[in-house]
Amino acid sequence: MTASPALKVTDLCKSFSGITAANNINVEAADGDIIGIIGANGAGKTVFVNMITGYLKPTSGKIEFHGQDITGIEPRDATHVGVCRSFQVSQVFMTMTVRENLLIALAIAKDEGKAMLSSPRSPDLVAEADRMMQAYKIHDHADAVASTLSQGVRKLLDIAMAVVANPKVLLLDEPTSGVSVEEKFAIMDIVIAALKEKGVTVLFVEHDMEIVERYVDRVLAFYQGEVICDAPPAEALQDPKVIEYVIGHDHAPNPTPPADAASAAANGTESNA
Ligand SMILES: Nc1ncnc2c1ncn2[C@@H]1O[C@H](COP(=O)(O)OP(=O)(O)OP(=O)(O)O)[C@@H](O)[C@H]1O
Ligand SMILES: [Mg+2]
Repeated sequence: MTASPALKVTDLCKSFSGITAANNINVEAADGDIIGIIGANGAGKTVFVNMITGYLKPTSGKIEFHGQDITGIEPRDATHVGVCRSFQVSQVFMTMTVRENLLIALAIAKDEGKAMLSSPRSPDLVAEADRMMQAYKIHDHADAVASTLSQGVRKLLDIAMAVVANPKVLLLDEPTSGVSVEEKFAIMDIVIAALKEKGVTVLFVEHDMEIVERYVDRVLAFYQGEVICDAPPAEALQDPKVIEYVIGHDHAPNPTPPADAASAAANGTESNA
């Protein structure tokens, strides 16, 4: 018997007055899949993430987590079943240190905030915060106040805070926005390695196609609330609709040469050598 997918989205729709933000979305993700969500501004990426994680109620359709219907679930319950997220806007507390931020996130995840009020520095939580800082390579900044961190370290902290509840499915809304290309790769190297080690299914919204190409197994391309392409990156980033509506002709990656051309080029190099 085939196990049910980690995430299954069936005919998902969302309309606001006069706006269709999601139109008949059908998506499946298996355990450990790394999926990139792309699309122009306003294409419906965040609405999709919000519906999966309980922050928006779908107008119609179904969301299942390992066969369990989680459509319209409250965000806290989504977290408890194992569906977690980060936000497009950072959730880091700027006046607190890296360790304090993680302790608060851990306390909330474990005890809905009560532990934070009673014993925010229980040895177990401190040890777990330290493990998180090691995994996300921010331990050197443990005692730094968040407002003094570089944007890249702050992004890593933000993602680490989204992961404290040990998600099975994690949705990251633009995890690398606002940092340089080099920093983006450094951040995603750390984040994807940490999540792969735990077998987490990851769906992340990303505008940078170099990042998408490097890290994802599959691309979901959104356009006007619809998924116009669901394919591996090599295929998706060459799809004419994706180039037209998402990437733009000026930014499309160079197509991989056909096998014949590639072998001809290789032969040419050899014969010239
Ligand atoms: N709460 C809301 N009320 C009304 N309309 C909304 C709401 N949230 C989103 N929308 C609309 O739904 C559409 C999709 O928005 P969404 O935020 O998902 O876009 P996005 O793909 O995440 O864009 P961006 O790349 O700018 O973050 C837009 O037209 C937006 O204005
Ligand atoms: Mg968005």
